[in-house]
Amino acid sequence: MSENKTTVDSKQYIVKSEPYYEAVGDEITLYEAAYNARMPMILKGPTGCGKSRFVEYMAWNLGKPLITIACNEDMTASDLVGRFLLDKDGTKWQDGPLTTAARIGAICYLDEVVEARQDTTVVIHPLTDHRRALPLDKKGELVEAHPDFQLVISYNPGYQSLMKDLKQSTKQRFGGLDFDYPNAKIETEIITKESGVDETTAGKLVQIGHRARNLKGHGLDEGISTRLLVYAGQLIAKGVAPVAACSMTMVTPLTDDPDIRDTLNAAVQTFFS
Ligand SMILES: Nc1ncnc2c1ncn2[C@@H]1O[C@H](COP(=O)(O)OP(=O)(O)OP(=O)(O)O)[C@@H](O)[C@H]1O
Ligand SMILES: [Mg+2]
Repeated sequence: MSENKTTVDSKQYIVKSEPYYEAVGDEITLYEAAYNARMPMILKGPTGCGKSRFVEYMAWNLGKPLITIACNEDMTASDLVGRFLLDKDGTKWQDGPLTTAARIGAICYLDEVVEARQDTTVVIHPLTDHRRALPLDKKGELVEAHPDFQLVISYNPGYQSLMKDLKQSTKQRFGGLDFDYPNAKIETEIITKESGVDETTAGKLVQIGHRARNLKGHGLDEGISTRLLVYAGQLIAKGVAPVAACSMTMVTPLTDDPDIRDTLNAAVQTFFS
């Protein structure tokens, strides 16, 4: 059995250029304080409202490497922590992304953590309390987290069912920040900057977005995300007619219900016809 001493170059995880992030409140200062305390953080908010972008921005701002892990229900603890692999020289230990993050002092972002099974989620427990360590049971090693290491998880409170909730013992290891779609002025600015459309067009997209968000709980599970508004803007900036662009990004992906589609299309017509 060969001892794995592959050293990971933390530079490859550094966010190289400044991600565009428009602050909506005092989240940057609050997050900085949480990072300084190395407090694990949970970011809550609907899909496409800027959580991932915020973490990228903060990693860049703090000059720390960022390792993002998209969670899903098939994910096992070994996918996070690591496993022995067979190669021509025998077995070799391969660190998982969580272990790498703990070793190099990265900000480790577990996206959609609720999707993971609870027996997978518990592996983060020793890293998120005073121990700040990760036991690699199969390897018989205890990895002490690098002083810069911080764990951040995201959570969408909307569509996640009660069956898929985090255990209290997991929740109560985190400080939290709430995210939501930004107000109309800020969202218009985001659409303009991210898609290249003019401010008037961006403003119309935002207003359509607001109408659709009012349908949440009345036929729509989730309102239109900032991400989809950016998509609409990008198509318009590429020369697609606004009505077609809106229908491709703000109607078709969202619902198959003909009545709701009519309502959404009518909102689009109000602003672009
Ligand atoms: N405050 C913001 N500043 C800049 N861009 C933003 C902001 N909020 C949203 N966006 C835009 O919206 C898109 C979606 O944001 P992001 O990917 O961060 O969403 P998310 O909250 O992580 O969604 P999910 O829960 O689905 O992963 C970004 O790619 C960006 O274009
Ligand atoms: Mg995300």
